[in-house]
Amino acid sequence: MKQDNLTVITHPLVKAKITQMRDKNTTTKEFGELVDEISGLMCYEITRNIELEEIEVETPITTTIGYKLKGNDMAIVPILRAGLGMVKGIHQLIPTAKVGHIGLYRDHDTLQPVEYLCKLPTDLESRDVILVDPMLATGGSAIKAIEILKDKGAKSVRLACLVGCPEGVEAVQNVYPEVPIFLAALDEKLNEIGYIVPGLGDAGDRLYGTK
Ligand code: PRP
Ligand code: URA
Repeated sequence: MKQDNLTVITHPLVKAKITQMRDKNTTTKEFGELVDEISGLMCYEITRNIELEEIEVETPITTTIGYKLKGNDMAIVPILRAGLGMVKGIHQLIPTAKVGHIGLYRDHDTLQPVEYLCKLPTDLESRDVILVDPMLATGGSAIKAIEILKDKGAKSVRLACLVGCPEGVEAVQNVYPEVPIFLAALDEKLNEIGYIVPGLGDAGDRLYGTK
């Protein structure tokens, strides 16, 4: 696993909230709130290098030079279903971002991603895309989603997941070494049925109360 282009967020608030998410007794409501809060905290790191442009601002005292985000050029793209839970926390910090959706589910037997929906901003090539999904397990879903984004013209993609494992990080890095990966936790491994260990179980089911 290469360390370039991989950022694991070590902030104490993120570590504490991820631990609460892992707890099997955390309720659906609490789980959703934690996904939302951690996504917002991660946004600080994910957007660290985005471009600014100078603007003039008049304060009550004088005129000075400040900054605004350069253009309205970001897009947030969740991988459905579980990725939806990460949108609000990021969108409220970047309200000018457009939101696209990619629907994928993992076939339970093959673990291969199956596409069922794709609705993306038409001007994707001029936007910095933040692709979000709570779990990076085999990496199959993230790789498929990045492939779809690139096919539709995306030039800049960042991948943000809450919990990942070395197998998933390596898989993405092998195919798309240029895509920066942001994680709130890097776990030990995948188990024999494709779940992250220690992980937090099935993120979609825990977020929506399904089984
Ligand atoms: C989960 C998760 C990721 C995928 C990760 O989704 O939200 O999309 O698995 O696994 P991978 O790295 O091995 O591809 P799932 O397929 O369970 O669908 P859901 O979000 O609809 O629950
Ligand atoms: N998808 C999940 O929701 N959890 C895992 O541990 C692996 C894939």
